[in-house]
Amino acid sequence: METKKILGIDVGASGIKGAIVDLETGGLATERIKLSTPKPATPEAVARVVAELVNKTGYTGDMIGCGFPAIVKHGVAYSAANVDPAWIGANIETLLSEATGKKVVAVNDADAAGIAEMHFGKGKGKKGTVVLITIGSGLGSALFLDGHLVPNSEFGHLYLHGMVAEHYVSNTARKKYEMSWSGFGKRFNEYLLHLDRVFSPDLIILGGGISNEFDQFSNRLDNKLNVTTAAMFNHAGIIGAALNAFEAAFGENRDVVA
Ligand code: BGC
Repeated sequence: METKKILGIDVGASGIKGAIVDLETGGLATERIKLSTPKPATPEAVARVVAELVNKTGYTGDMIGCGFPAIVKHGVAYSAANVDPAWIGANIETLLSEATGKKVVAVNDADAAGIAEMHFGKGKGKKGTVVLITIGSGLGSALFLDGHLVPNSEFGHLYLHGMVAEHYVSNTARKKYEMSWSGFGKRFNEYLLHLDRVFSPDLIILGGGISNEFDQFSNRLDNKLNVTTAAMFNHAGIIGAALNAFEAAFGENRDVVA
């Protein structure tokens, strides 16, 4: 019998979070555990913390889904904006598999959050172009057309005012430039209008840590933008990572999962 409970892990720049996910309901079956991301976040150091987290969850299943903050193709990281550059070219799945003794399926962290929202949350049944943006240490993105993921969209790396967008507006930028929520909202609105200008999304879903603060800056967003917060807020990454692993192993599209 296929198991419908899988451990989802979300590797972030500041925390590595995990919980066992009930894929029937899309909810967490256990409490979320969060450990600090090691500094520097080298492959070996991150693998050690992931193994510690897996032990803490008491997970007995043999497969783990892992969201990772980089371009991820066939298990390999191709960028490292918010983790140690030693990750570039590293096989996330092999490394974490060796550290945990379980099969690991890796996916970009924002793509994971998008997968969860399209399946269980605000994107469910939505046709057309849907973009999910995660606001955290970086700006992550997931692009869907008629429910199908176009992986590794990396819209946080669009250029805005001559700089990489996530350097202009993200939680890191908010702290660095000591922005008020209103100031943050103003910048984020510019970013979303740029995104709207180049992709004309039908719906924009906001996830990541800062989506919890949406009420503090939502009044700065242009009315023409169709923006909503993720139904799963900051848990979407964990849930989507688990769902993606399940799909990779048992789903209809298992041969095309990146
Ligand atoms: C990375 C993305 C990631 C995002 C959110 C960006 O800096 O390039 O791959 O999805 O941060 O973690």
